[in-house]
Amino acid sequence: MRLLGVVPAQEDNIQSAAEALRAGELVGLPTETVYGLAADARNPVAVRRIFAAKGRPADHPLIVHLPALDQLSQWAAAVPVEAVALGRAFWPGPLTLILKRQPHVPDEVTGGQDTVGVRVPAHPAALALLAAFGSGLAAPSANRFGRISPTTAAHVAEELGDAVAMVIDGGACEVGIESTILDLSRLDTCGPVILRPGAISADAIAAVIGQRPLGRAESEGAGGAQAPRVAGALAAHYAPRTPMRLVEPAALADEAGRQLAAGVRTGVLARAGASFPRGVTVRMAPADVEGYAHALYANLRDLDAAELDLILVEAVPLETAWDAVRDRLGRAAVGAGLEQDET
Ligand code: TXA
Ligand code: MG
Repeated sequence: MRLLGVVPAQEDNIQSAAEALRAGELVGLPTETVYGLAADARNPVAVRRIFAAKGRPADHPLIVHLPALDQLSQWAAAVPVEAVALGRAFWPGPLTLILKRQPHVPDEVTGGQDTVGVRVPAHPAALALLAAFGSGLAAPSANRFGRISPTTAAHVAEELGDAVAMVIDGGACEVGIESTILDLSRLDTCGPVILRPGAISADAIAAVIGQRPLGRAESEGAGGAQAPRVAGALAAHYAPRTPMRLVEPAALADEAGRQLAAGVRTGVLARAGASFPRGVTVRMAPADVEGYAHALYANLRDLDAAELDLILVEAVPLETAWDAVRDRLGRAAVGAGLEQDET
């Protein structure tokens, strides 16, 4: 496999990337949420390469990225009015819809389920590549399974550089955490269900479709037995290798001091304003939720690389605006410190 490494998002590189994808190779794809590891969604052999590169179990389905809403019916067998309304409102953007699939969608993409996840990403380089390629690209986040999602081209090259024909450098991802996943495949029985919270909130969705989606946990009472599998729903995910704990703001500085005094090399991910004992490695995160999400994975990567024994993360507000960030921090804390195959 050619290893062209990280290349700027310019026309000739977009064309080479489209060619590599047509040849069944993998490409590191910038999106507004996180970087994806893209393959031709119609090519099962190419899609299998994604699973091999990530070390991801084969039954975890992938999101198909489309150039535009008008290709939706090529992938989804049933397109409810809610899907069209949400696509018009939020695409290109960080919302993935789960719909009944067209029969031709490979089992490798859907994890053998009768549904497919689709979204149109809001990144100029992603849209340019999708337009040049002309069809759907299956792309999970471009990290090893269970680990921290990449938000720069360098993150992708570090983690999966050997597996890709090239990584298109689209800069740091604006949103910084993965798309909201909304299940519209069980509207009759469960209504709309948010499987993974993200930047598009339940309220924003309700404003478009006139119905408030349930959260995953709420929906579990209502037919959870058939709930689709979602890798992001595993308790341990998005995790650093260093053990990590969430600590309430008022207790953070004291806890960091106590750990340090006990000889524990301690790092802290704090929100603006706090002060800490000398010797604690501190990353200050923006206080606003958009800024916090944008920087979250890069902050966790930096702390994970700082040769620490423990990362303390200042707990974030309980307000719904912080749901997606709280979700990622909770899973990162559960998965932190575990070996790859334990996550
Ligand atoms: O923002 C994003 O969604 C990023 C960028 C690259 O688009 N992608 C991403 O992909 O986060 P991944 O594979 O890391 O997470 C996709 C999630 C997985 O948890 C998967 O289980 C779920 O989407 N998913 C995909 N297709 C599904 C389906 N048919 N039913 C249920 N869940 C599905
Ligand atoms: Mg992922």
